[in-house]
Amino acid sequence: MIEIIDLNYHYPDGRAALERINIVINPGEKVALVGANGAGKSTLLLHLNGILQGDGVVSINGFEVNKQNLSKIRSLVGMVFQNPDDQLFSLTVGEDVAFGPTYQGFDALSVEDKVKTALAEVHLDGFEDRHPFHLSGGEKKRASIATVLSMSPDYLVLDEPSAGLDPKARRELMALLKRLPQTLILATHDLTMALELTNRVIILNHGKLVVDGASMDILLNEDILQQNDLL
Ligand SMILES: Nc1ncnc2c1ncn2[C@@H]1O[C@H](COP(=O)(O)OP(=O)(O)OP(=O)(O)O)[C@@H](O)[C@H]1O
Ligand SMILES: [Mg+2]
Repeated sequence: MIEIIDLNYHYPDGRAALERINIVINPGEKVALVGANGAGKSTLLLHLNGILQGDGVVSINGFEVNKQNLSKIRSLVGMVFQNPDDQLFSLTVGEDVAFGPTYQGFDALSVEDKVKTALAEVHLDGFEDRHPFHLSGGEKKRASIATVLSMSPDYLVLDEPSAGLDPKARRELMALLKRLPQTLILATHDLTMALELTNRVIILNHGKLVVDGASMDILLNEDILQQNDLL
């Protein structure tokens, strides 16, 4: 379970990015986080694996997100960043995808197997030796997702997973995300994807949680979408 209790966050320049956020996400839920540009989606997601720490409590399966618990938290929560260049830093795609399971302590053979499986899941079979900088935008996005899948996290957190993907890659990504058993939390402007993949929608507006409910009710309600600059 993910618990966020009374979370406030100010960026160092003083800007209030999150105000009194309270959310509980149970295992198996599929949640879309939506909101206009600057609403605070990425800021909120970055609290789920301790990249940012605000005032309030964030805990994952009972472990509070703090410096002491970081390695535990990071094997529970797989985070796919908005920008793939924040995710891919090795000389080859294979090394990037191997990074997580190696850090988790798996032996070389198991790591190799996990890399192969994760790359196959995102349809990048055989990309092990490619340089991440030399991939297309959509391939980078899929490689980023593989770096997280290789760790088999309980919670998959994706920030704008469909941004920059061509229609076929987007469809394949949706099929992949639909298949995955993990609890899913995705920040997205792609409301069609949110409707297809999630059963719960949380709307942020200027750093505040303003709506939390069933995807069908929210995403098909033009008034709510309009009030939150989503139409
Ligand atoms: N590093 C930073 N320093 C100062 N302010 C920041 C920083 N990063 C984001 N912000 C501000 O915090 C607020 C929330 O930004 P955030 O990136 O979380 O929005 P978002 O909902 O993810 O938007 P988008 O849809 O554009 O990705 C915005 O007002 C933004 O300008
Ligand atoms: Mg964002």
